[in-house]
Amino acid sequence: MNAACIAVGVLLCAGVAVAKDNLRVAYEWREMDFQYDSPDQRWSAIERGAFKPANVIPFGLEVYRQRLFVTLPRWRNGVPASLAYLDLNDTSSKMPALRPFPSWVSNSLSDADPELVSPFRIKADRCGRLWVLDSRIAGVLEQTKLYGPAQLLIYDLHNDDLLRRHILPMSQTKQNSFFANLAIEDADCDNTYAYAADLGSPGLVVYSWRDQESWRVQHHFFHPDPLAGNFSINDIEFQWDDGLYGLALSKPQSDGYSTLYFHPLSSTMEFSVKTSVLRNKTLATSGAIYRDFKILGNRGVDAQAGAQFLDAETGVLFYTLPNQNSLGCWQTSKGYNVQDRVYSNNNSFVFPSDVKVDDERRLWVLVNQMQNFIYDELYPGSINFRIYMANVNDALEHTACEATKSLPDLVGKLGEVLRTNIKLKTATDEGSKSAAAALTLSLGALLLTLSSLL
Ligand SMILES: *[C@@H]1O[C@H](CO)[C@@H](O)[C@H](O)[C@H]1NC(C)=O
Ligand SMILES: *[C@@H]1O[C@H](CO)[C@@H](O)[C@H](O)[C@H]1NC(C)=O
Ligand SMILES: *[C@@H]1O[C@H](CO)[C@@H](O)[C@H](O)[C@H]1NC(C)=O
Ligand SMILES: *[C@@H]1O[C@H](CO)[C@@H](O)[C@H](O)[C@H]1NC(C)=O
Repeated sequence: MNAACIAVGVLLCAGVAVAKDNLRVAYEWREMDFQYDSPDQRWSAIERGAFKPANVIPFGLEVYRQRLFVTLPRWRNGVPASLAYLDLNDTSSKMPALRPFPSWVSNSLSDADPELVSPFRIKADRCGRLWVLDSRIAGVLEQTKLYGPAQLLIYDLHNDDLLRRHILPMSQTKQNSFFANLAIEDADCDNTYAYAADLGSPGLVVYSWRDQESWRVQHHFFHPDPLAGNFSINDIEFQWDDGLYGLALSKPQSDGYSTLYFHPLSSTMEFSVKTSVLRNKTLATSGAIYRDFKILGNRGVDAQAGAQFLDAETGVLFYTLPNQNSLGCWQTSKGYNVQDRVYSNNNSFVFPSDVKVDDERRLWVLVNQMQNFIYDELYPGSINFRIYMANVNDALEHTACEATKSLPDLVGKLGEVLRTNIKLKTATDEGSKSAAAALTLSLGALLLTLSSLL
């Protein structure tokens, strides 16, 4: 961005800007592998069919401190652990073998009531807890087995202990319920809220950490659009009829509540609702909330979006675009019609499945070619899974979502400088000389501010 560009206005700049495709591959795999205690144990697991590499596909990701967590849903059998991590400090390989989280035992299905069955999404909160949304449905692409209603598992990332397990009450799950997406409102560690999206029987379950209870919210906007079910990804065409999917929370507003941005998977629309509506159980479960849900806009043809995440610092909503092999962005301080692409690639960015920003300002995207895994097959000889990474600001460079110093920002900054100098002037105003001095100071400060802004 150059100075002229800023002075003229943000939209004009966005029009001529070209995304720089600043993401780079941090990790990549042909097939996923695990760190067993010994090579013998690994071979034994493969021989027994407990580990079938071709059936393991990464889906959700999260980064906390030096660990990168990955969910590996049990679409088919032979997934030895459905939640695992790699050590970011270990830079010896771009194709690291994963370690089970929190342990092999917790991931074992041999128990009558397994701790972890098949989680899709995870979120680490700012209080050092890992929230895991476990669908508890295994073998969807083979022989479906239900282990019970979906559950939230909350781990302490300081010692990996399981802090709490909340199984959704039967009344909050329906015939075709499938919980695959999660957002955590963690401004207050003692009064944290989890939002779990039901894509199969469209609905939203809200969980209060403090009150240890959950409730189910219904709304028409959670439903799939029957005219937006066509997907076409690198010559594989299919129809999906999935409801509420992508969830993202803004940072808390002055009243302490966030905005939840959301969309169904089979839809090109984006909606929002204030969490003050969702967090009040009485209100949220009543019919009175219909008009509290807002329509933001339509992304257009083929712009069905998957997972999404809002970077609180820049206010940018990142979302995956499976039909376009792209990562999209929207600067939430601008109108919904100002959208852009952060990254696109028809060969190496096929089915972006999850996106996050960690607390070191790094953007992460997991890409897994899921349409091939479900409808065709993955070739073990080629790179099938990639994790991309970039500094958020680099990723946004030259996109319409860039945290540009817009005209209102500039005016605000100038206002601050002027106010500071007026105070300075009144404080030192003992003679006529100081007025002139203050004016000079103002001009100097203005020039300094301008040069730092442009
Ligand atoms: C990872 O590296 C960081 C900084 O380089 C260090 O502070 C931390 O202790 C390391 N963690 C582990 C588990 O080695
Ligand atoms: C879905 O795609 C098919 C072609 O594959 C097309 O004939 C049909 O009109 C599309 N439906 C909608 C609702 O876009
Ligand atoms: C929750 O909503 C109900 C119904 O609108 C209202 O009467 C009540 O005061 C609200 N509770 C809180 C804690 O805001
Ligand atoms: C990716 O493929 C689509 C459809 O085949 C095409 O419209 C688009 O231009 C391609 N993008 C790139 C970056 O090649």
